[in-house]
Amino acid sequence: MAQAKYPMPAELKNEARLDPAKYQEMYNQSIADPDTFWSQHGKRITWFTPYGQVKNTQFDKDNVKIEWFRDGTLNACYNCVDRHLPERADKTAIIWEGDDVDEQKHITYRELHEQVTRFANGLKKLGVKKGHRVAIYMPMVPEAAYAMLACARLGAIHSVIFGGFSPNAIADRVNDCEAKVIITANEGRRGGKGVPLKANVDKAVAKGACPTVDNVVVFKHTDTQGDWNDDLDVWWHELIGDCDTDCPAEVMFAEDPLFILYTSGSTGTPKGVLHSTGGYMVYVSMTHEYVFDIREDDIYWCAADVGWITGHSYIVYGPLANGTTTLMFEGVPTYPDETRIAKIIDKHKVNILYTAPTAIRALMAKGDAAARGTKRDSLRILGSVGEPINPEAWEWYHSVIGNSQCPIMDTFWQTETGGIMISPLPAASDMKPGAAMTPFFGVRPALVDNEGNHLEGASSGNLVILDSWPGQARTLWGDHERFEQTYFSTYDGVYFTGDGARIDEDGDLWITGRVDDVLNVSGHRLGTAEIESALVAHEAVAEAAVVGFPHDLKGQGIYVYVTVVDGVDTSDELRAELIKWVRQELSPIATPDHIQWAPGLPKTRSGKIMRRILRKIAANEHESLGDTSTLADPSVVESLIDNRLNK
Ligand code: WT7
Repeated sequence: MAQAKYPMPAELKNEARLDPAKYQEMYNQSIADPDTFWSQHGKRITWFTPYGQVKNTQFDKDNVKIEWFRDGTLNACYNCVDRHLPERADKTAIIWEGDDVDEQKHITYRELHEQVTRFANGLKKLGVKKGHRVAIYMPMVPEAAYAMLACARLGAIHSVIFGGFSPNAIADRVNDCEAKVIITANEGRRGGKGVPLKANVDKAVAKGACPTVDNVVVFKHTDTQGDWNDDLDVWWHELIGDCDTDCPAEVMFAEDPLFILYTSGSTGTPKGVLHSTGGYMVYVSMTHEYVFDIREDDIYWCAADVGWITGHSYIVYGPLANGTTTLMFEGVPTYPDETRIAKIIDKHKVNILYTAPTAIRALMAKGDAAARGTKRDSLRILGSVGEPINPEAWEWYHSVIGNSQCPIMDTFWQTETGGIMISPLPAASDMKPGAAMTPFFGVRPALVDNEGNHLEGASSGNLVILDSWPGQARTLWGDHERFEQTYFSTYDGVYFTGDGARIDEDGDLWITGRVDDVLNVSGHRLGTAEIESALVAHEAVAEAAVVGFPHDLKGQGIYVYVTVVDGVDTSDELRAELIKWVRQELSPIATPDHIQWAPGLPKTRSGKIMRRILRKIAANEHESLGDTSTLADPSVVESLIDNRLNK
């Protein structure tokens, strides 16, 4: 059944930046004639030399090539900063709201220019040049954005590492891209507690573990004094002490890399997703403007972390390219209490709030207390991202946070897509709670069955994208073959998202979740393989299998089956020890919810673990296990069911 729609509020639709009467025609043109469409819309950003070519892409699995605007030159930092100086120098570029309720800052575009150019000159002193890689491991402070933009200004490729990752995870990411410099802060603040960022970097680089790193730049965010290594460490403020603002933006070709962002896949180590400059900037600025219907005086708040793609595209590059005031929040939604989000909205008169279902569910768990004593009447548009939003959370977000006045843009996209792919548009589509609805310009979604046959009409299947769009990732750092393999070989000639989806009778899209071994825990993407490899690195563990299970708050929880080494006793102490181990080896976001001791795992005769069965047991759906006749030892399954933990 195609569910009842919530209509887009009429006054919003009529005043939208995009003309509702033109939407369908524009979409059709973007698909039928992408060259003409993007040739026109590529001009929304500033080019040093205009492009003559537009789309040059092929999805052939052995020869994937993605180029947009290839002969044009530009600079991403120039687009986010310099080009606003004539008209917006005194406009606030960034509002920073600290973890502490009394801490805030307003940074104008003029100040942003000054901070970014001085820091870029500081990086130059450290020898950073075009094409070098720079790792950024920062709290949610404006300096994180300055660092990204300074790299972009110099043509250095930044690789932001989420502040929740542990020393090992930092070292892996730094070494994979051979970063020359790491930029960090002495300490972050979250929920009233310190986050030991510099100490984690110290551990990551200890004993020469990151041989390519020449320097660690440390922003002094709190008064905490940690260890200091004279060979590597430099203070941010000392580095820029004698730097001026004279720092021309490097001239970059459209296809020169802008950044690498590591993300988890279903197998192996994290993948260094690479985005290039021109297509990415066009796509993120255009999606940001049209999905959120951005107006000149808007206060726009994306409550993500810059460590994820959402932060890259919709805290930094998209909004700043559009000259928008973007709010950065250092803390967490529930500190000092559950009214924090609503209070920030009132305090800064936020017009657009873009957050994740996991945050919405955490607030919803407190009933309507999250809105206590607040008005939220500045809000015009709400956004959701990161995982499917369940209809109850949608309704709560809509009625409680949005006073039943604000439409919700349920935006589906991925690290690899660079920007929003499927979402309602204020100008063009109505809403259904839980549905991502309609493709953005240039996006051609389709559903295929497991054999790759295209499904027509209302149906459910695997979500693929038939042709390239400008914001798409170009490759995986240092491994184009893996890029082709991962995204273009499952279904020949199309980009495979890894997600399942449904198209209803109205033709609207619903994303149903990952169909591969990627977990989505509280909106954080984790590979089961990564967690398993952390577990087997522990001396007591012989084998481990990790699966997701439905979790009310987190969306998915982490369920672990562990076979211990012969002679090791299984105990609650060992369980606690393994939980601590995973947190330290990988990240607290990968904390297992359940660890079940498994004397044996269900395997095929060729030794492959049958995860389908483990998923069912973890979800408490063992009544519908399906065919187990191909198992090497079917009796293993009964013992796992008897000892399951999620009853
Ligand atoms: C995966 C990508 C996109 C930025 C944040 C996550 C899931 C994302 C939605 C949505 C249903 C969603 C998908 C996707 N996802 N947005 N609106 N509805 N699912 O980026 O870490 O690369 O994760 O997040 O499963 O594949 P990411």
